[in-house]
Amino acid sequence: MPKAIYTEVVIPDIVRNAITLATQLGFPMMPEGRQPGYQGLPSACVPQVGRLLHVLAASKQGGRIGEQGTGAGVGTAWLASWLAGSATLLSVDINVRYAEAVADLFRDDPRVTIQTGDWHTVMHSGEPFDLLFY
Ligand SMILES: C[S@@+](CC[C@H](N)C(=O)[O-])C[C@H]1O[C@@H](n2cnc3c(N)ncnc32)[C@H](O)[C@@H]1O
Repeated sequence: MPKAIYTEVVIPDIVRNAITLATQLGFPMMPEGRQPGYQGLPSACVPQVGRLLHVLAASKQGGRIGEQGTGAGVGTAWLASWLAGSATLLSVDINVRYAEAVADLFRDDPRVTIQTGDWHTVMHSGEPFDLLFY
């Protein structure tokens, strides 16, 4: 079997800040990914998924990007770290503690909006989306 080749994933500063926040909130990181059948708390996206989000967001010049389930803001940070042109990002979490903490993380970035609520209702304000991460 050929040996797998992994390239290093560079973690942007805002993602590092979100990872720190996740630790403070007690939000599971699980960098190895969730095992099949895992029934525990929700976890943050792993760096490889984050890197994919980063590339997808970069492809949406001036786009409207949405995220259903902010969590500790790790996926949000990957998406936000490469918003292209006038692109904007709306992320929604039903957990007030998570949403308020992540809103504070992005308080200086006017392109990013974090809302508290059920995405079934709150996300309508941002539709249609060019990219939606669930
Ligand atoms: C797997 S975590 C999100 C991880 C995050 N997207 C990331 O990439 O790091 C799922 C999140 O969805 C939130 N959630 C669950 N049901 C929801 C709903 N109906 N509306 C909004 N948020 C919801 C949970 O509170 C939890 O924080």
